[in-house]
Amino acid sequence: MEKLVITGGTSLKGEVTISGAKNAAIAILPATLLIDGVCNIENVPNISDVRAYCEILETLGAKITWKGKNEIEIDTRNLSCTDAPLDLTSKFRASYYLLGALLGRCGKAVVGMPGGCKLGARPIDQHIKAFEALGATVDVSQGKILAKADKLVASSIYMDVVSVGATINAMLAAVLAEGTTIIDNVAKEPHIVDVANFLNTMGADIRGAGTDVIKINGVKKLTGNATYSVVPDQIEAGTFMIAAVASKGDILIKNCITKHLEPLTSKILEVGAHVEDIDGDNIRVWCDSRPKKANLKTLPYPGFPTDLQPQMGVVLAIADGTSIINETIFESRFQYTEELNKMGATISPQGTRAIFEGVPKLTGAPVYSTDLRAGAALIIAGIIADGVTEVYNLQHIDRGYENIEDKFRNLGAKIERVSE
Ligand code: UD1
Repeated sequence: MEKLVITGGTSLKGEVTISGAKNAAIAILPATLLIDGVCNIENVPNISDVRAYCEILETLGAKITWKGKNEIEIDTRNLSCTDAPLDLTSKFRASYYLLGALLGRCGKAVVGMPGGCKLGARPIDQHIKAFEALGATVDVSQGKILAKADKLVASSIYMDVVSVGATINAMLAAVLAEGTTIIDNVAKEPHIVDVANFLNTMGADIRGAGTDVIKINGVKKLTGNATYSVVPDQIEAGTFMIAAVASKGDILIKNCITKHLEPLTSKILEVGAHVEDIDGDNIRVWCDSRPKKANLKTLPYPGFPTDLQPQMGVVLAIADGTSIINETIFESRFQYTEELNKMGATISPQGTRAIFEGVPKLTGAPVYSTDLRAGAALIIAGIIADGVTEVYNLQHIDRGYENIEDKFRNLGAKIERVSE
């Protein structure tokens, strides 16, 4: 078993370069199944979810060639199978994209019930509703999902809830469907735009991604033969912005899209820290005093992202005054607060909200990462705490952050990965 051992009390200073977006990459990889050709993907984060996805694609007949640490060539001309390996697919959430992609390309998909971070119920009814609207039948039983269609035909779909996964899945299924599909009340996250841009580069005709309505003119075939670069990870960039605030540090975050970071930027200014948008692609964040209290509510983009809620929770845990976080996306997202309380925080989770009575400092303790973003929050907490913190359950963190301890170490953190 591995753990991170962090000796706290560091003010993080220096530069960090952001990797490609996890949530875009793990949608683009299955999207390649729609292509009857070869494509090249750059700026792919080298994280365990991406490596697992490559393994799944290979079992379906795709040929994957790593052309460097962050570049993959994928040849999907000769798919041989529509049944994804259940053990691999049930390990992470984004395996649900195999349904839309395989259904679109082959008319059939069998996928294990998606796993991933345990953040609450996480139903997939809107995914199923979209597939059925396009003419598929969907059966969920014995821990797997079977989707089938003789032919997919365009439709008008209204999403009952704003869902990132359902929006992308509906888009994947509709790309090769006959006619024009309209999907209304869709999610607008940057990685939705990125997946649409990727598919359009490969020959699809998708319009309106990033707005409330997406229109997809079905095409006969995606031919590929193009290169695409994954968008920078706004959640990784946000994690380092928050680390600068929590540690009273000064960090230049390179290779990000500052526009995607606006909801966080405004919260960082509210707690009294400073942000300089250098040129739209680089952002400097620094803090020279104890953060002030602030309330926040998570919302779909362009609201404050739920995936930055635990990291911002660390700032509010040490802020001057009492803050309240309202979590509107995932009901079980406050598990990290119990770990922060072991470090001296005073946080009371009450259902979908938590009250943070700010304390002047945290103290090191053994803590357990309960999910991916909780893990990032605990690393930040360890860096600012007095004494030594040990962070366990690194498999969650490794799913979504590339070289996280190297990046923090380069900023001055005293952090080591230790095998027990
Ligand atoms: C994705 C991200 C995750 C992020 C989340 C919200 C990936 C792999 N994961 O998760 O990191 O935290 O978006 O930005 O990209 N819902 C339904 N029915 C559905 C689908 C969703 O009721 O069919 C609900 C969910 O329970 C949740 C809300 O809609 O309350 C939003 O979920 P969704 O946007 O779908 O999140 P994920 O795609 O699971």
